[in-house]
Order: sequence, then C-alpha cells, then structure tokens
Amino acid sequence: MEIKVSQEVKDIKTEVLVIGQFEGEKTSQELANTYAVEKDGFEGKFGTTYLLHTFGKIPADKILIVGLGKKEEVDANKIREAVAKAVKKLKQIKAKKACFDFDINCDYGKSAAIGALIADYAFDKYKSEKAEHLDEITFARFSQKDVDEGIIFGEAMKFARDLANEPAQFATPSKLADIAQHLDGITTKVYDRDAIERMGMGAYLAVAQGSVQPPKFIHMKYTGKNPKKKIAIIGKGICFDSGGLDIKPPSSMLTMKDDMSGAACVLAVMQALNKLQPDAEVHGIIAACENMPSGSSYKPGDILTAKNGKTIEVDNTDAEGRLTLADALCFACELGIDEVIDIATLTGACMVALGTVASGIMGNNEDMISRLIETGKDSGETFWQLPMFKEYKDSLKSDIADMKNTGSRYGGASAAGVFLQEFVKDVKWAHIDIAGTAYLEKPQKELIAGATGVGVRTLLNYVK
Ligand code: BES
Ligand code: MG
Ligand code: ZN
Repeated sequence: MEIKVSQEVKDIKTEVLVIGQFEGEKTSQELANTYAVEKDGFEGKFGTTYLLHTFGKIPADKILIVGLGKKEEVDANKIREAVAKAVKKLKQIKAKKACFDFDINCDYGKSAAIGALIADYAFDKYKSEKAEHLDEITFARFSQKDVDEGIIFGEAMKFARDLANEPAQFATPSKLADIAQHLDGITTKVYDRDAIERMGMGAYLAVAQGSVQPPKFIHMKYTGKNPKKKIAIIGKGICFDSGGLDIKPPSSMLTMKDDMSGAACVLAVMQALNKLQPDAEVHGIIAACENMPSGSSYKPGDILTAKNGKTIEVDNTDAEGRLTLADALCFACELGIDEVIDIATLTGACMVALGTVASGIMGNNEDMISRLIETGKDSGETFWQLPMFKEYKDSLKSDIADMKNTGSRYGGASAAGVFLQEFVKDVKWAHIDIAGTAYLEKPQKELIAGATGVGVRTLLNYVK
C-alpha cells in the first residue's frame, strides 16, 4: 500500500473519500450530513463507520464516515485507531484507492500513517489466497514530514510482526543473524558458538546446547551524528521455546515460535533508526538460540556460570529466557552505555497478571521507568510497573550455587526481574516483559491475531 499526502483532496477523483465525524457534530461534507447524519442519525461514536454512495455528486464514488468520538477526547492514539477502523472497512468493501480528509487542526499524520499500515497488515505469505490490500491512500491536511515518520514506524511494526509470525523452522538463530547483517546503516557483529564460549557466556550456551540449530550472539550498532546518549536494547531471542527437558504441555508450546518477539522488536527498531537518524548511539543485542529437549540438553540441577562469574543452579529448563538475557546484560554493561533496556516474552506470570492489555516493566531507576511508561502512553502502548521487592530474591536462593534460575511460581514476573538485576552493573536498566502482549490469540483493537510488534513504537520514540 502506498501512502501519499495531498492538500487538494476535494477535487481528486477517488474511489472512497474518508471523512471523520466528531460525536454529535456535522461533517465537512454536505452529502454526508444530509444522508448519514440527518436522515440516518449517524452519531459519530468512536470507531463506528457509515458508507454512502455519492452517485456522481462529488468526484469520489463513495464516502466513508468514521466516528472520531468526542471532539475534546481526540488524540494521536484515537486517530491511529480510527484510521485503522476505516482501512479495515475499506478492505472489507474491496476498495483499492481512498483519500482521507479529517477536518482536524492538529497534525496527526504520524498516527494516521501508522494506523493505516497496522490495519493493512496480513501474514498471508503461506496462503494461496492472499488477503485484501489497498493500493493507495492519500491523506489531506497532514504534513508530509509527519506522514513519512509514521510510515517508518508502521513499516518497522510490519517488520517485527512478520518476523515473529514466521514459523520457527524458518526464523532460526542463523536467520536472525543474517537479517541483522544486512540492515542498512547498521554495523553488525555475529558471534558463533566458539566465540560465545570464549566470552564466557555459560548460561546462554547451556540453553542453546540442546538444539541442532547453532546459537548466534548478535551485536548491532547504530551511531547517529552527534550522539547525546548511549543506549543498548536487548531482545529475548528464543526462536523456539519447547521448555527443554522440562517440556511444555502442547497448549503452552503452540505459540512458542513467538518467543523471539523481543528480538524481532530490536531488529525492527535498528532497521528504522537508520531511516530516522536520531542523535544517539544505539546497540541492539540478541542472544539467539532454541530451547529444545535432546540428549545434549542442559538439565535440571546443572550449575552454569554466567559471563560475570555468578553461578546459577538450573531449577527449571523452561526458565531459559533469563539465562540468555543474563549473559546479554553482562555484555551490554561492558559497552560503556548510559542505559540498557531488555524486552522479553519472559514469564507466563506476567501474562496472568496483566493479560494482553499491558506489558510489565521493572528496573533499577524510577526516572527511566517513568519516562518509558510516559513514552508508551504517547505511543499507544501500555506498560505497568511491577515491584522488585528484595524479598523476591529469597525464592531464588540455592544451597549449592549463587542462585537458582526459578523461584516460587507466585510473583513469577518479579522473581524474573530480580534474577536479571544480578547481571546489571553500573547502568540504568529497565526490563519489559511482553509475554502477554507480543502475540494475540484473537484480534484486539486495530491488531489482528498473531504477532503485535509490541515495543517497536515506544522504543523508537524513546530513542528519538
Ligand atoms: N517463553 C516463556 C514465557 C511465556 C509464556 C511467553 C507464555 C509467552 C507466553 C518462558 O520461557 C517460560 O517458559 N517461562 C516459565 C518460567 C517458569 C518455568 C519459572 C513460565 O512462565 O511458566
Ligand atoms: Mg521457557
Ligand atoms: Zn521462553
């Protein structure tokens, strides 16, 4: 789908003219007011739509009205959702071209473009019958600059969703490494098994050792013109999480190709940074591997040594993400950065606590956490802070090693958080648990079922 900007929409001959209607108000189109508002009583409630044939009375064949809700409540997030609603409706009626003319003073070009691209998304590469797509949409009133930025964000989300939706048979650690090595404007170094061993990443390697797919430790770097800040973002990159020897039941394993959603997010962000060119130095880090049961798997009771020398008794091989992140965090903390953010489909407990509505966030710096939560609000992604009380550490106590990798089932998201903190040194750190938000079993708001691309918008806005 191509997205354009033009200020002369009124005279453009198009299939569908999409206009907005604030609740209880009139629209900018007489025709719409006469038929939809006056005759049919269309109220403009948020997210509702009304389709009208123009019978040649204006250059567009049809008018689609989308309800924008109460005028005083309109914001960037509402516009993204409303545009997404409209695009879904356009796809439903198999329209190919449309012009959007929202009678709004604010420049919502960025959200509008993001909304359009989210709604146009389908993962249909393996289907013989392809999904409906629009060829072209044009936005009036919004600026080219804002729309262009929205396109970068929208494409980054598509990038992340495609990668997380890709079956584990194709989206292997080697594939992620290959993608990372071909990103424009990003320098990438990939470490293979021997190099990972030389770096002393015993926790990560243990997780990887049960799979025939070799691990790939991926370090990407973007350097802006006048870097004001140095940040590292780490994405959990378990390309398939079977649970290992502590194997998952079938229903829990079903969606575990998505256990690299954090990695997909990081790759998408790195890819977009080159287009946005912010004044920052950003490291993207992924300790990619599979968690599989086999004769070479790591076992419950094994004791692993992480990069920082701390020893970990394996209590449960299904708590593998924190082991890979532990070594990745050690690596990041040696880069001389100001801040590190990890994003991970880490715990079922977080999913139980917050559902699919919000991602969990924890860390060692309240200010950084607040800034991420605020950036999330502006980006249309919800983060909810979970506690890191020191008592959670008690459940990780081991008799024979520095800690266990799993604590009590209760408060599992926080237990994982305090575990990770053991591998953070002298750097501001935030941990984002996207176990519940990375993958939807059924559609939610503007998102279809499957990978959501969660984190991409917030992290991009945060770096900017
Ligand atoms: N990848 C899972 C967490 C997960 C669960 C992500 C559901 C998405 C949806 C993680 O590796 C895991 O298996 N965690 C265990 C930890 C437990 C053994 C302490 C869990 O949450 O059950
Ligand atoms: Mg697991
Ligand atoms: Zn996992």
